[in-house]
Amino acid sequence: MITDDLQKEWDKKSTTPSDMWLLMPRLRDLAREHRRILELGLWNGKSTTALLMGEPDRMLSIDICVLPEARWLLECAPGILEIRETDSRQEIDEEFDLLFIDSEHTAAVCSVELELHHPRITRTIAFHDTVTCPDLWNAIGPFLATHHDWYLDEHISSCNGLSILRRGRPEGVSFE
Ligand SMILES: C[S@@+](CC[C@H](N)C(=O)[O-])C[C@H]1O[C@@H](n2cnc3c(N)ncnc32)[C@H](O)[C@@H]1O
Repeated sequence: MITDDLQKEWDKKSTTPSDMWLLMPRLRDLAREHRRILELGLWNGKSTTALLMGEPDRMLSIDICVLPEARWLLECAPGILEIRETDSRQEIDEEFDLLFIDSEHTAAVCSVELELHHPRITRTIAFHDTVTCPDLWNAIGPFLATHHDWYLDEHISSCNGLSILRRGRPEGVSFE
């Protein structure tokens, strides 16, 4: 259920120019395909708001330093959103359908996040800032080269870049 408070956050954040605003409708639509979402990196909660607008059953958002404005989102999605103030490189013993990575933006950290969390992600991994932080590809490239059950499905260049990996085989591609 989209609460009035969440709707207000969406109305504000999705119409105010930022590093994320033009991607917010895509993130909302992506979230609609998934029931359980893990987010790494909240900052002021733009992506969190967009993902919550997709009405997941459960969302766990992690940040090493949670701002009050991000914590406020707990009131906007009661019973859905959980926020943990911890490092993204901590193991999480729970399965999710979508992983959204928007934390430190270095290959060193992103590689650890991918290796640690991908076994419990059933369908999709998305990354923000893949245009402005090209070092991320030094994590994503080797990950794709060594995990053949994942492929790059979509790349959007606006608002610093959004890249989406899917688990499985690209449609229409046969390996036989
Ligand atoms: C670019 S901001 C996230 C923006 C947010 N997704 C949004 O749409 O507003 C990056 C965030 O990642 C957090 N961060 C950086 N390194 C981290 C780490 N190792 N573990 C957890 N959070 C981290 C920072 O504290 C910061 O809030």
